[in-house]
Amino acid sequence: MDSYSLGYANIALVKYWGKKSKDPVLPYNPNISLRLDNLLSKTKIEKNNNNIDEFYINDEKQSQEEVDKMIKFISKFTPTNREAITIRSYNTVPTAAGLSSSSSGTMALVLACNEYFKLNKTTKELVEIAKEGSGSSCRSFYKLAAWLEDGSVEELQCSLDFGMMVLVVNEDRKKISSRVAMERCVQTSTTFDAWVEKAKGDFVLMKEALKDANFEKIGEITESNALAMHGTTSTSTPSFSFLTEESHMAMDIVKELRSKGYKCYFTMDAGPNVKVLYLREDQDKLYEEISKLWKKKIILCME
Ligand code: ADP
Ligand code: DP6
Repeated sequence: MDSYSLGYANIALVKYWGKKSKDPVLPYNPNISLRLDNLLSKTKIEKNNNNIDEFYINDEKQSQEEVDKMIKFISKFTPTNREAITIRSYNTVPTAAGLSSSSSGTMALVLACNEYFKLNKTTKELVEIAKEGSGSSCRSFYKLAAWLEDGSVEELQCSLDFGMMVLVVNEDRKKISSRVAMERCVQTSTTFDAWVEKAKGDFVLMKEALKDANFEKIGEITESNALAMHGTTSTSTPSFSFLTEESHMAMDIVKELRSKGYKCYFTMDAGPNVKVLYLREDQDKLYEEISKLWKKKIILCME
C-alpha cells in the first residue's frame, strides 16, 4: 500500500536568520520554534518509469530548478545507484508564503526517503539530515525545539498549551526565498551583528520564560525578536521588506486586542503573513474578536 510521510511546519519564537556555516548548516544564533500540527506536507516517493526525476507539489509539476534542488539534497543520503524517482507531495500549508513550507516539505521528504530507500535511520539521524535540506526543518521533529549554534537540536518543555493562528495577507509564492533573503542580510545588512547579539540574548530569555511558563514574557520576546529580524531587511543593500501595509494592519489588530486585555502576540517570517501566538484556552474568544477586525482569511494552526 502507498503511504505518505508527514512533515510539519514550525514557527520560530526566536528566529534563525543567517548561516554561520553552509556545510554543515549552522545558524548564527540559537533559535526556538513551535510546531504547527495543522500545517503540513505529506510526501511519497515512487519509481519513475520514464527514467527522469520529477517533483510535484499539489499535483503541479515543479520547475527543473526545484527538481535539481531536491535531488541535490537527497543525493547526500540516498544510494548513488538509485533508479529515477517521482517525489509527490501535498502541502496544506501555502507554499513559499512565509508559513514554513520549506520545513514541513523537507521533513516529509526526508521521512519519505527513509521509507522508500529503506534507510532505517533514527529520528536523531533524520533531524541531522533535514537541516542540510532546510535549516529550520530540523526543528519540526519536536513540538517545541531549540536549534543550537553547534548544530544540535534539543526538545524543550513548557507547561503552557499554545495556540497559533495566521492572519493571511497573501498566500502567493514570495518573490525572494528565505534562503536568498537571509544571505543578503548576512552579506550586506549594517545591523546584522546587532541582530545576532540580540537574538542570542533573546534565546536565553526565551528559555527562561518557557521554563517559568511566563506567557507574557514569551510573547514580548517573540514580537521583539521578529521585529529585529525584519529590521535587517531594511538595512540591507538593496533593502527590501517582506511586510506590507496589510501586515502592519494585522499587527495593529493584535496590539489593539492586547490593550483590551487579550493575551496575544504577533510574529512574522519571510513573507507578509502575520501569525498570532496565544494560549489555547483563549482561542475561541480571540478568534471571534479577531474575525470582527480581520476580514481576510484566518488559518488555525493547531489541531
Ligand atoms: P516558506 O516560507 O514557505 O518556508 P521558503 O522560500 O523558505 O518558503 O521555501 C520554499 C521552498 O521550500 C520551495 O521553493 C521548495 O523548495 C521547498 N518546499 C516547499 N514545499 C515543499 C514540499 N512539499 N516538499 C519539498 N520541498 C518543499
Ligand atoms: C524566517 O529554514 O527556510 O522562517 O536553511 O536556507 O532553508 P534555509 O532557510 P529556512 O529559513 C527560515 C527563516 C525564518 C525564521 C525561522 O524559521 O527561524
